[in-house]
Amino acid sequence: MNQHPTSRREFLVESAVLASGAVLSPALRASDASPAKSAYARPEAVIDFPDDFLFGVASAAYQIEGAWNAEGKGESIWDRWSHEGRGRVTGDVVADHYHRYRDDIGLLKELGVKIYRFSIAWTRIFPNGRGPLNPAGLAFYKDLVRRLKEAGIQPAVTLYHWDLPQALEDEGGWTNPDTAVHFEAYARLLFHELGADVSHWITFNEPWVTAFCGYWLGSKAPGKKDFNSALGAIHTILRSHGRAVTAFREMECPGRIGITLDLFLGLPATQSPADQRAAEMINQSHHGWFADPIFKGAYPGLVADQYRQHGYAVPEMTAADRDLIQQPIDFLGLNYFNSDTWRYDPKGWAPYDATRVEPEETLLLNPDWRPDGLALLLKRLHRDYAGTTIFITENGLESADYVNHRGEVNDDARIEYIYRHLAACRQAMDAGVKLKGYMVWSFMDDYEWGEFGRMGLVHVNFKTLERTIKRSGTWYRDGIARHRFALP
Ligand code: BGC
Repeated sequence: MNQHPTSRREFLVESAVLASGAVLSPALRASDASPAKSAYARPEAVIDFPDDFLFGVASAAYQIEGAWNAEGKGESIWDRWSHEGRGRVTGDVVADHYHRYRDDIGLLKELGVKIYRFSIAWTRIFPNGRGPLNPAGLAFYKDLVRRLKEAGIQPAVTLYHWDLPQALEDEGGWTNPDTAVHFEAYARLLFHELGADVSHWITFNEPWVTAFCGYWLGSKAPGKKDFNSALGAIHTILRSHGRAVTAFREMECPGRIGITLDLFLGLPATQSPADQRAAEMINQSHHGWFADPIFKGAYPGLVADQYRQHGYAVPEMTAADRDLIQQPIDFLGLNYFNSDTWRYDPKGWAPYDATRVEPEETLLLNPDWRPDGLALLLKRLHRDYAGTTIFITENGLESADYVNHRGEVNDDARIEYIYRHLAACRQAMDAGVKLKGYMVWSFMDDYEWGEFGRMGLVHVNFKTLERTIKRSGTWYRDGIARHRFALP
């Protein structure tokens, strides 16, 4: 543990970044990419953050709430998915946060977080996706928000974290343009009811996953498999986002509003133009396809042309769509877990003509860790999207945690993972990136879309539902209190 990256590793990262010359601005030099060259990446280094930097944790409704049909809640696509046995476990109970939220706010206080990101289950508010309203569901979130405020914790609300009402899916879900109308009505209701107390709103969590995993790859609910449907779903989601932002401004809500994208940096395997193009294809299909319409009003041409060449139907961006989608947002939310290296391969991942290169072994605990990719990605987003304010809305590590005979969970790997990514954040901030907050994924162990996961700062015994703050949680709390982090 606590080793520097190997020189081989540095070489790979540097050459990859050099190879991206056409892609990354001249300001991003090879030296920017090398984690070992960052003063903050030394294991003994102390990383300081400004006083107003918001540290927090994140969760999502279906992943922790349980109570899947309590007090009038309707069926979501994830209820349907898990009840059809697609996944090893269901989200019926998970951590039972719906019934234990008062105690869980106590845990948030113990963690000392300043901001808590959670999502609202649309089916608790509108069981069928549109009226009539379910008062018990609304009361739950109102009380949660009220108690968070009392605890001095800023509520950051995600409107949509993948759990579409099944009734709307039955009408085509995100492939049906009318879903945007229902989403706006749902968003307006929440802005009206919670707007005075919520500091940050996130319209969508990871629309890439919603659209591509849900409607093309079939790996997540609703499990459809049609590429054109996925492209259509994205267009509806972007329009829904725009309608929500427009409503938010019209209603003069006091908080801030943005969207969360799942982003990683695709690095080219070599300096060849073909590999550079392959990496760029991955980046623009993943980042650009969502962020370009919002910040620039158009889908990225490189990817649009590629899709058309493969015979897919790229949705038309009408002038009205453009105006709607391009509504200015207050921040970009970034979910970051790792980065990947790609090479050109016409027989590779269609329609991208790219194949992911397995990471080299390194002295880091896990070769998939790429904090260097986070620093570069932040700089790239800063460059490409007009210096927008950014929040890391998810970053964290899955590990096989357990409660030992002393009742402790010693998750040192998670501490190192978070530390290294905070170092990358600091490095990007020093380069001018307007990063204003960081939220660990996740608050507590949860349902990880098919099975139970252990990404939390709080361990959950899924049989007894007992909670235990992990060593990483205590370490994070101490760092937040001082706005300063160091490895133990
Ligand atoms: C999602 C979370 C998920 C996490 C870890 C993110 O893609 O937003 O819902 O649990 O990754 O897998």
